[in-house]
Amino acid sequence: SAKTLEQIKEEGKLVVGTSADYPPFEWVILDENGDSKIVGIDVDIAQLIADEIGVELVMEDMPFDSLIPSVISGRIDMTIAGMTYTEERAKQIDFSEQYHQSVSNFVVLAGEEGKYTKVEDFDGLKIGVQKGTVQEQMVTENLPNAEVVSMQKTGLLIEALKTNKVDAIFIDDIVTIEFVAVNEGQIAVVADVVFENPEQGKAVALAKDNKELLELVNKVVLEAVESGKITEFIEANVSLQASSN
Ligand code: ARG
Repeated sequence: SAKTLEQIKEEGKLVVGTSADYPPFEWVILDENGDSKIVGIDVDIAQLIADEIGVELVMEDMPFDSLIPSVISGRIDMTIAGMTYTEERAKQIDFSEQYHQSVSNFVVLAGEEGKYTKVEDFDGLKIGVQKGTVQEQMVTENLPNAEVVSMQKTGLLIEALKTNKVDAIFIDDIVTIEFVAVNEGQIAVVADVVFENPEQGKAVALAKDNKELLELVNKVVLEAVESGKITEFIEANVSLQASSN
């Protein structure tokens, strides 16, 4: 079961789970020694939390749809994965204060972005989404005639789009910017075509009724938002991503 703040201190490490396929929130780079390393906005936030607790940070990569079960079982102490607050998820886990707001965008093959002017234009098409995400839920609920193709890692979605296995993919806007930059001239964002109901923001998620730990996380997150640190993390990771392509 989930560790308390006291137990995390005793262990001397904070284990944070993520799905490292989502730049600039989290992705994998090779460090100077050729070892792979998870970096991103969420890793920077995780480091602030580990520092506040006074323990070492250990990041664990897994498929996005394994994160909530892993929080519940206590395999990880929390997840920071660009995870959007939803009421449904909040029945299973606790969310911290939110640290980032965004909407989701459709991405299509370059040159086709002008064909779409409203979300309904995607109904009846094959839409790729990451398994277990709000994007999967939004497409399933709002586009009854779409064929929803769910995949575990975002990189697979990009490949599926580029090889014509799906007509469009649907992911968080700030993440689409990163993927379009890497695949310039091949894929493009469909601008201004968004669902009406506003999405909630992203937050850290941890096991229910872990009061002391949640209070500490909230303190760190609020301070990072108010001091402008989050904005700095976003800028730094967007440029890191641009330079690591
Ligand atoms: N914001 C979306 C959600 O919460 C997608 C998050 C995907 N995160 C990731 N690290 N792949 O469902």
